[in-house]
Amino acid sequence: TYVVTENCILCKYTDCAVVCPVECFHEGPNFLVIDPDECIDCDVCVTECPAEAIFAEADLPPGQEKFLEINAELAKTWPVITLKQDPLPEAEKWKGVEDKLQYLEK
Ligand code: SF4
Ligand code: F3S
Repeated sequence: TYVVTENCILCKYTDCAVVCPVECFHEGPNFLVIDPDECIDCDVCVTECPAEAIFAEADLPPGQEKFLEINAELAKTWPVITLKQDPLPEAEKWKGVEDKLQYLEK
């Protein structure tokens, strides 16, 4: 499966959700997650993300492994998103900032 990692938090560009062929992105207040039971590993979302926040499970960067479980858990309750939205207002400011997990709203 593919996994949305920390750098999506507070950015939420949503370009990823538009290209997914199987509608496996789910939306929270300031983060998106991928439903691991739906993802078909097509890889098209990876290059769409301006924040480079999406990785294959096998390629998760050090420290980002916990997001596998976070995606699986939140995908159970958050609604599906398939349409492009405006990024969060301060997306450019937060892009690339480290340790954003503390700001994740559920
Ligand atoms: Fe959707 Fe493909 Fe990305 Fe999986 S890898 S989340 S199926 S776009
Ligand atoms: Fe997040 Fe990147 Fe998608 S910032 S909403 S994973 S395009």
